[in-house]
Amino acid sequence: MTTYTDKGEKHEKGKFLCFDHLTFWVGNAKQAASFYCNKLGFEPVAYQGLETGRRDVVSHVVKQGKILYVFSSALNPGNKEMGEHLIKHGDGVKDVAFTVEDCDYLVQKARERGALVVREPYTMEDTQGQVKLAVLQTYGDTTHTLVERTAYNGLFLPGFKPPLHKDPLLATLPSGKLDFIDHVVGNQGDDEMVPVVEWYQRNLLFHRFWSVDDKQLQTEFSALRSIVVANYEETVKMPINEPATGKRKSQIQEYVEYYGGAGVQHIAMNTSDIITAIVNLKQRGMEFMCVPDTYYEQLRENLKHSKVKITEDLDVLQNLKILVDFDDNGYLLQIFTKPVQDRPTVFLEVIQRHNHQGFGAGNFKSLFEAIEADQNARGNLTILTPNGVSKIA
Ligand SMILES: [Fe+2]
Repeated sequence: MTTYTDKGEKHEKGKFLCFDHLTFWVGNAKQAASFYCNKLGFEPVAYQGLETGRRDVVSHVVKQGKILYVFSSALNPGNKEMGEHLIKHGDGVKDVAFTVEDCDYLVQKARERGALVVREPYTMEDTQGQVKLAVLQTYGDTTHTLVERTAYNGLFLPGFKPPLHKDPLLATLPSGKLDFIDHVVGNQGDDEMVPVVEWYQRNLLFHRFWSVDDKQLQTEFSALRSIVVANYEETVKMPINEPATGKRKSQIQEYVEYYGGAGVQHIAMNTSDIITAIVNLKQRGMEFMCVPDTYYEQLRENLKHSKVKITEDLDVLQNLKILVDFDDNGYLLQIFTKPVQDRPTVFLEVIQRHNHQGFGAGNFKSLFEAIEADQNARGNLTILTPNGVSKIA
């Protein structure tokens, strides 16, 4: 595991401030938004569709703390772009938007350095003010929207109206306790990690923040490599993964095959109270990955030799299957959901940090073994043979 101190070059003007919102392209935006509200504690915050004068694409925006997710679907037959995206990827994250200062300058710099500008800076406006946006192409079919919202007081973006319907059930459910997006992870195909990391370094002036290699991230069966890139202020963190050769198909390879290429693998949401969050989310019916009790036996043993003191009750953490990673200075608590659609692609993480800026490398082995058990149940923990032909294990 490596942490980096060199933040590299800083933009002369403008900056990336934080994650703004994530846009999912899905088959049925209304139902997807309802799942995130019911299972994860989000609330409807804005809407755009036929009733607001938008004729081609419907978008339901949900919010929790500072986290904003947009679920969009095509309204008409024959929407080639959204239709082909759905055929190829299934439901997934189309766009990861950043709140920025000086959208024009950041886009100009990215273009000069070789980034593909999908949409040049443009201004959206309604009675609540103006927002400037632009879109850059990143890995796979994923894009980054840059959002400069210095002069806007509306619900979300110009053109969005209040939700048509507020589900009365939501007010009766316990809080999800999720505060902000901690990191967004992108899975890449074989040998694609470093070129993608370099894209962020070159075009957005992000820097390497943390990394792990496949020696540290392997189970008996599969392995992966990961490099985290961050903006100068380290408020936006994007781990980039690639599969490494193992005895069987890596979970990253499984993702890439089902997503049809590179894409967002998981979104980690930060909480200041993971125990209450997970009690509540489980009560709401959210499904999480499960590690065996032997994980906690090993953890208790390892903690005996550590300087760090976990303030939470380990029995409670074990009962909820929350994972712990630590070093001498601090620790993090984390848990992962099962995939949130039928394809084994996107899943979610809930994370609480106590003076620890890692990503849970100490948990990867236990977590991967749990993921591999599910992967095996899906018939995808296949044996890799030297000529690349795989067969069912
Ligand atoms: Fe994560």
